[in-house]
Amino acid sequence: KKKITSRTFAEMKQAGEKITMLTAYDYTTAGIIDAAGIDGILVGDSASNVMAGNKDTLPISIDQMIYHAAAVARACEHCLVVCDMPFGSYQVSRSEGVRNAIRIMKETSVDALKMEGGIEIMDTVRGIIEAGIPVMGHLGLTPQSVHKFGGYGLRAKEAAEAERLLADARALDEAGCFAITLEKVPANLAAEVTRAVSCATIGIGAGHETDGQILVYADALGMTRGFKPKFLRHFADVNRCMTDGVQQYIRTVKDCSFPSVDESY
Ligand code: KIV
Ligand code: NA
Repeated sequence: KKKITSRTFAEMKQAGEKITMLTAYDYTTAGIIDAAGIDGILVGDSASNVMAGNKDTLPISIDQMIYHAAAVARACEHCLVVCDMPFGSYQVSRSEGVRNAIRIMKETSVDALKMEGGIEIMDTVRGIIEAGIPVMGHLGLTPQSVHKFGGYGLRAKEAAEAERLLADARALDEAGCFAITLEKVPANLAAEVTRAVSCATIGIGAGHETDGQILVYADALGMTRGFKPKFLRHFADVNRCMTDGVQQYIRTVKDCSFPSVDESY
């Protein structure tokens, strides 16, 4: 199978072929997801929650994102690997954002970067694209701004916010973004954005009319307990599977049936 690039996403949109993405943060998991045939892996700053147990994405550092992204990139032979720019790495100034973007590309060998925001970060988005780095936008629920919005609720319900989101999407598209993540917005708005832009839209909690879908792998595979928003579907019960395996291990060690003679030297 051919290596997927940021160009492939545009071709898939044109062809009407849905684009599939999941997150991953480590070599072993990314290797499984890539070999299963996914189109793209996002090294999300959700690593802050999923890997480190923080309550939001704000604390994760550039160094920590680089550690995760380099591990994922080493595992992927086929899919496109996108790395989130963490909170604070691109909000200060264009030059700082471009410098941090270049650093992540040099130290990880990912294929592209993702940034949250619209018109307010356009100057920095342009600078990074001008440096030759493919950029994925991210609109709607943008977790790095959780304190501004006061929670993780549905975004752009009202006409004014929907209009702003559409304008942001158009601006990101015109700046040359190869894709835009649309998180937790009404399906009708996501469909309208998808028709309005030439780049691919990747939805999470944004209905089925986006050009592709993305989920956090630990949520999609049923590893995280007590998190089941309406937009999420569990495609496996890895929590059950791991719990069974761990309990079997405990049982066989306790009853001295592991290791057997055959498993001993
Ligand atoms: O960090 C992340 O996992 C994300 C996706 C949910 C889009 O940004
Ligand atoms: Na993210």
